[in-house]
Amino acid sequence: MQRTSSTAVSAAIGASLLALVVVASPVPVLQAQAGPDVQAAVDAAYAKYKGLKEGKNADYIPALAKVDPNLFGIAVVTADGKVYTAGDVKTEVSIQSISKVFTMAQVIQEQGLESIEKRIGVDATGARFNSIIAIEGVRSVVGTGAPEMNALVNPGAISSTSMVTGGSADAVWAKIIGFHNDAAGRPLTVLEDVYKSESDSNQRNQAIGALMFAYGYIKTDWKQAVDLYTRQCSIGVNAKDLAMMAATLAFGGTNPVTKKQVMDSAKVPGVLAVMATAGLYDDSGKWLYHTGLPAKSGVGGGIIAVSPGKFGIAVVSPPLDDAGNSVRAQKAMADISNALGGNPYALAKKN
Ligand code: DON
Repeated sequence: MQRTSSTAVSAAIGASLLALVVVASPVPVLQAQAGPDVQAAVDAAYAKYKGLKEGKNADYIPALAKVDPNLFGIAVVTADGKVYTAGDVKTEVSIQSISKVFTMAQVIQEQGLESIEKRIGVDATGARFNSIIAIEGVRSVVGTGAPEMNALVNPGAISSTSMVTGGSADAVWAKIIGFHNDAAGRPLTVLEDVYKSESDSNQRNQAIGALMFAYGYIKTDWKQAVDLYTRQCSIGVNAKDLAMMAATLAFGGTNPVTKKQVMDSAKVPGVLAVMATAGLYDDSGKWLYHTGLPAKSGVGGGIIAVSPGKFGIAVVSPPLDDAGNSVRAQKAMADISNALGGNPYALAKKN
């Protein structure tokens, strides 16, 4: 695997500083060297994987099967709020399971790290994201009695949505979409065709919601929780939005462009830990082994990944592998992160 050969991201992060140097310096070439390393990595991954045809759009939600499988967009956001892109970063897809991260983050922000840990758990299930057997077979952590589950598989995610407080469905929804908007740095909207399509075909999630209520994980109206969960999964995002949301997590809960503090920095590591544990479902270990990055995929074709303190990255490409993760997104993100020295477990190579 290709490893980092330079401190490219640090260079990019310091680009604005260098720009100041450039003004006073007789060697303006410095600026040209500092910024484009990120862009070069993004461009290289785009060129390498543009023609890759592996994988298949999700079709268990009928609207997802109709999305153009050739859609391919990459975005990276660095600490200075600079956005590096390639391909189509404007077309929106449904956020799907990536929303689970931000609803979990919202609950953690409001109710503390222990709220999610106690009610849902922060352990891998080893089962598929919508497994019902995982609910039946859930074990408890010795001592605390907390379930060995997490907020990134459907049972935990629907429960997490049910934990967002509010006097009405509209009030809960306003908080959920508000948190997503703040992380993305712009107002997002629901893709109504996807919402309708998933609402018409989400009997399995309804069964999961009912079971989670029956077993006491959901303590409020489970039908409302499933509906709001379906709505949050239908939020429309492009690659740039997703990269900005990832960057908000990469920079301690503060959106690097709007500078809004979306969540307390002390709570962000807990969110990243669950992403590292379960962000790519059954393939989370494999992904972490190769990249070291907390990440989250969605069946709409997006994946976000976070290199803490360095960058947020996202790719949108609808065709998925057997585990439900975008094929091109995984490959492109791994290449870019490795080129930029994004793996938090790897020591930066000294030049
Ligand atoms: O609940 C579902 O099945 C979808 N709304 C979300 C699933 C998903 O994105 C899983 N991702 N890899």
